[in-house]
This record gives sequence, structure tokens and C-alpha cells, in this order.
Amino acid sequence: MAQEVRGVIAPGKDEPVRIETIVVPDPGPGEAVVRIQACGVCHTDLHYKQGGINDDFPFLLGHEAAGVVESVGDDVTDVAPGDFVVLNWRAVCGKCRACMRGRPWYCFDTHNAKQKMTLASTGQELSPALGIGAFAEKTLVAAGQCTKVDPEVSPQVAGLLGCGVMAGIGAAINTGNVGRGDSVAVIGCGGVGDAAIAGARLAGAAKIIAVDIDDRKLETARSMGATHTVNSRTSDPVEAIRGLTGGFGADVVIEAVGRPETYQQAFYARDLAGTVVLVGVPTPEMKLELPLLDVFGRGGSLKSSWYGDCLPSRDFPMLVDLHQQGRLDLGAFVTETIQLDEVEKAFERMHKGDVLRSVVVL
Ligand code: APR
Ligand code: ZN
Ligand code: ZN
Repeated sequence: MAQEVRGVIAPGKDEPVRIETIVVPDPGPGEAVVRIQACGVCHTDLHYKQGGINDDFPFLLGHEAAGVVESVGDDVTDVAPGDFVVLNWRAVCGKCRACMRGRPWYCFDTHNAKQKMTLASTGQELSPALGIGAFAEKTLVAAGQCTKVDPEVSPQVAGLLGCGVMAGIGAAINTGNVGRGDSVAVIGCGGVGDAAIAGARLAGAAKIIAVDIDDRKLETARSMGATHTVNSRTSDPVEAIRGLTGGFGADVVIEAVGRPETYQQAFYARDLAGTVVLVGVPTPEMKLELPLLDVFGRGGSLKSSWYGDCLPSRDFPMLVDLHQQGRLDLGAFVTETIQLDEVEKAFERMHKGDVLRSVVVL
């Protein structure tokens, strides 16, 4: 029997979000219905609301979530009702050229639930944010979007691994391949940059330089593991990073803003043969200009990190375990917990830079 639950809808471009009754179908083949326990508020949700992703309104927002599987389709064997899971936006296909070569974190053919959730009032089909839609009491996803983790962890912490925190940690440990003793600089210390700092610390980086234009952010970055901080409004970040690394630059520089000027800073703040990781998301009109000779002559690698190059089945349980052991403080990313009807307010706070993460707890 399809169920009716409450969910946060973005009805149209720049219109305030509101709570509506939505219809969640029973799971079909390959699908699962998940009772959501917590879901973080991410920039991408705001981008959906602003029409910055596409025009497929109405959206069912929310995508950094954890909850309990309520029911699964007949053929689903990886998860079962009662399992505590973190949701991810990319159920791996297992058949594409990336999967076939043993690189499922690059899967080029990920999928979501086939059936649509709808608005109870009009029957209109909903577009779930990143194929999840978890600012809702329950949501319908592909079973492969559910990753079982230790049920002892708090949902508000576990859910964060579903997006921004995983992107940042993964930028350091997966894409940047940060190793013991490395020097690392992180430009932009919001939730993603801070997670990159935490990831670099986890990987054993010797020096972690945090760069931001906001002193409040630099203070938080220090608590996440930054050993040095640079305010790039008042000092040149490239000079500062070189100064802190014997004049050479950092082994790995992670750009977590998504702008051409900060990318350039990252490019010149890395040591010869070093690595730049772009995890900040640029907008379509942005262009980058660099002397090609510098791209060649400085060697090393210029990489982008999409969802932290994560493999949920490998990374989510591992990071939850590290958190449970006290080796990674995921709780530090939760600035506040809120109710379902406070998402609009949370967007405003996020916009002002007042929070790392507001997390809706259901
Ligand atoms: N130089 C340095 N830091 C900057 C600059 C700049 N020119 N401009 C902004 N920042 C800082 C902000 O002060 C803030 O601390 O970058 C940080 C961005 O953080 P958030 O806005 O909280 O964004 P976050 O969630 O961390 O995401 C960062 O990754 O996933 C993408 O879309 C996301 O592009 C965004 C990026
Ligand atoms: Zn695939
Ligand atoms: Zn997100």
C-alpha cells in the first residue's frame, strides 16, 4: 500500500520551501522505502530551490540522510527491513566500463528508484534531490543507494557521510591520496573543506594549512585538525603556503570553494610534482586561464573529486567505525539540529556562513 507522509517541497524557482503530504509507493524490484531519521541541509538543496540544477520542479529536497529500511522490493538481498543505512546518490550499476574494470566509484551508469513519489494534493510527480528526497518521513530509493553501517552511531552524524562530509574526506584520502608526513593546504573551510582537513589528519598529514577569508571558519578549521591558518583576505595565500613549507608549496592542495581565482591559488601553492584536488563546484560560466607551460613544467597532477571518489560500501562503514572509535569527530560538523519545518530558516543561516551543517532530525 502506498503511504502518505510529510516532506519538504521546493514548489518553484526561488519560492519558499513548504511541507506537503507526499505519496511514497511500495518498493518495486530493486527499490527500498527508508524511514528517515536525520538529514543534513546542503548547498545543493538550496541550488535546487533556486533553479540552479534544473527546472524539474517540484523537488522533494534533502539528500544527506540516514534512516532505517522499512520495506524492500522482492528481489532485494543486500539490505532488509530493519537495517540502519546511510543513503548515497549513486547506486552503482556493476556493468558499465568503469565497474567492469574494477573501479565502481567511477560508475558511469548509476541509478535511483524507478517509481515516482507524488504530491498527494495534485498527483504531480516529484523530483527527489540527487535521487534521494530525504526531508521527508519516508522516501523511496534504489536499494543500492542504501549502505548498512553500525546502528549504534547517531543518525544525525551518520547521514552527513551521504554528501558534503564524504566529499571532503574523500577529496583528501581518495582523490588526493594524502599520505603520512605530507603537507596539505585546504582553500575554503566550510563543511567540505573542514572535512578535507579532518581527512588529511586521518591520513597522517604532517602539516595542514587552512585558508579562508573568514576568521570564524579558520578557528573551526583548527579544531578539525589544521596546524596553520591563513586569512587570504589579509595575506597572499600562495606566499603564505610556500612560507610554511620551506618555500616550496604543499604536496597536496585541496580547493573547496569552486572558483577560478582560488583554483589558481591552489595551482601555484603546490610543490613541484604535487597534486591539486578540485572539490568545490564551479558554475557553468566560470573559465580558467593558466600558462600551459606552468601546467607542464610544474608536473604532478590536477584532479577533480566528484563525491570524494567514494565507494559507499567501502567508505561509509569505515568512517562510521573511525567515528565510533573516537578517531574522527563527525559530530563536530553538526552545528544545530532542527525540525522539518525549519529548512527555509536553515538555508538563510547557511547563506550567511553561520553554520557548518544544520541537520533535520525526524
Ligand atoms: N578564498 C578562500 N575561501 C573562500 C573564498 C575565497 N575567495 N570564498 C569563499 N570562501 C570560503 C567561505 O568563507 C566558506 O568558509 O569557502 C567556504 C565555503 O564553504 P561553504 O559555503 O560552507 O560550502 P561547503 O559546503 O563547504 O562547499 C564548498 O564544495 O560541494 C561544493 O557546492 C559546494 O562549491 C561548494 C564547495
Ligand atoms: Zn557502473
Ligand atoms: Zn549535498
